[in-house]
Amino acid sequence: MCGIVGYIGSGEATEYIFDGLKRLEYRGYDSAGIATITNGGIDRRRGEGKLVNLEKKLREQPLAGSVGIGHTRWATHGRPTEFNAHPHTDGSGKISVVHNGIIENYMPLKEELIEKGHRFVSQTDTEVLAHLIEDEFKDDLEAAVRAALKRVEGAYAIGVISTHDPDTLIAGRKSSPLILGLGDNENFIASDVPAILPHTRKIIYLDDEEIAVLTRSGATVKDLGGNTVDKKVETIEWNPVLAEKGGYDHFMLKEIFEQPQVIRNTIGGRTDEEHAKIYLEEMGLSVEDVKKLKHIYIVACGTAYYSGCVGKYMIEQLARVQVEVDFASEFRYRNPIVDESTLVIVISQSGETADTLAALREAKKRGARVIGIVNVKGSSIAREVDGVLYIHAGPEIGVASTKAYMAMLIALILIAIQFGRMRELVDVPEARRLIRELKRLPRLIERTLADVGNIQEIAETFFEARDFLYLGRGVNFPTAMEGALKLKEISYIHAEAYAAGEMKHGPIALIDRNMPVLCIATKSATYDKVLSNIQEVKAREGNVIALVTDGDEEILKFTRDVISVPETEEILSPIVNVVPMQLLAYYIALRRGSDVDQPRNLAKSVTVE
Ligand code: M6R
Repeated sequence: MCGIVGYIGSGEATEYIFDGLKRLEYRGYDSAGIATITNGGIDRRRGEGKLVNLEKKLREQPLAGSVGIGHTRWATHGRPTEFNAHPHTDGSGKISVVHNGIIENYMPLKEELIEKGHRFVSQTDTEVLAHLIEDEFKDDLEAAVRAALKRVEGAYAIGVISTHDPDTLIAGRKSSPLILGLGDNENFIASDVPAILPHTRKIIYLDDEEIAVLTRSGATVKDLGGNTVDKKVETIEWNPVLAEKGGYDHFMLKEIFEQPQVIRNTIGGRTDEEHAKIYLEEMGLSVEDVKKLKHIYIVACGTAYYSGCVGKYMIEQLARVQVEVDFASEFRYRNPIVDESTLVIVISQSGETADTLAALREAKKRGARVIGIVNVKGSSIAREVDGVLYIHAGPEIGVASTKAYMAMLIALILIAIQFGRMRELVDVPEARRLIRELKRLPRLIERTLADVGNIQEIAETFFEARDFLYLGRGVNFPTAMEGALKLKEISYIHAEAYAAGEMKHGPIALIDRNMPVLCIATKSATYDKVLSNIQEVKAREGNVIALVTDGDEEILKFTRDVISVPETEEILSPIVNVVPMQLLAYYIALRRGSDVDQPRNLAKSVTVE
């Protein structure tokens, strides 16, 4: 949700910043801008819409300078116009600010500043920050930024440049992500690692209410009181190539095809088939802790939430602990029954989702132990939980999450087996069998990926549909929900998912010859029931697309539109079944001409509530 990049060095700041913004465009893409210190003043270029518009402006009117800040926006306050695009400046034009987050008390601050004579030109909350720094400035920019930040409420990650101190770049954060990248006589700030990966892998993660003062030769981190804070410099393992498209047309497609390797990475070193063991020490839970468990909450948003719904089935089935899954945005506000005896598992790809972060804090406040299933190393959620299980999916750039979902499912099944073992409910042969099957999954998925032609044909048949129904049962009901979400997000087709048995209680009224109904009918304990549901759809002239297990001939009696996947254990089937859902959504969106990697109105990590 908004991407920030800042540069201080001896190169052309605009080039570094623009390149970084391109890598962060998944965070927001309704307007963008860059400001640099040049010829003793601050100059800026801003453009409405995607970065190509800013690029055009920069070609027409290049922006020189070796210190600068840039921003790609996902609008919260104020329409996505050029006027509201960042960077914003103060009244004197000597201070320029980029910001990700929301200044919640911006209205009273704005009124106060207006009374003092400040004139505002945008509708954003961010402009208040620029004026506030101006108002606090006496002769020390850093002190003015600290004083301004002490007065704001809400969330911020900011970059500040000023002609008052032209050889300094200042950054600060609270509840929105920001990292520092340390190069060779050049330093960076960014919202996320991919922005600076081509230039450095040495990173400092800023913590809440810290500011950083960057010069060409280094960076000093301080608290808002001005005291220096010792920070660890971390080395990022991600290879810059991982954050490129690598010959695929879209990041989403590349990330779908990466899934077999992602499964291997998530499992990597965590299983011992021979001794039927799972190693998840990172969670910090003893056998005693797990034996005592009475209640688990899984809390997440969007796709991560659907992975949690699959996790519920897995954990309840193998470990026999009651699991409740909640949207993070609901959990926080509904006075959940959580205490010291509750285990809360929060799931997040980005580790920065504001709702999930708030839910995690709420759970901790109530005394619960909180475990995180997270992709982005060093992210806020990863740092605040009591134990973190990294999923090792690598950078996920496509706004529609695919490989992170896959890796979350793997993490959840590992937890389920582990808890089952600890509670003595999963014996050695069962654990061995599950671990063996888990390791077979990459090859099974490779088979599905090798047969995309059939899915492309089905996409060709149905791409003009206005609505879609997705039906699944049991552990694959969440697969249906995730499939529907993928379709909605990137093709803008209205899609709804139902537990197949629920259809007759209402949604069946929607079915006619214009309604494609995707039915997940892979081998399961409820296969026959799903076949009955399919017949109910056919009886009302609905068009069935069936997802079945290889070798299913029965299904051909009901539909020609069949996608088949290799057989696996029912409890693992969501891992295999989601792949055709992702591909179908991708090819339908492609056929409709949507912007697959950057669908309208969305942003990769939602850092506002
Ligand atoms: O980074 P997170 O996993 O916390 O993000 C949660 C959701 O915002 C995310 O899954 C969203 O629903 C995606 N666009 C799904 O494709």
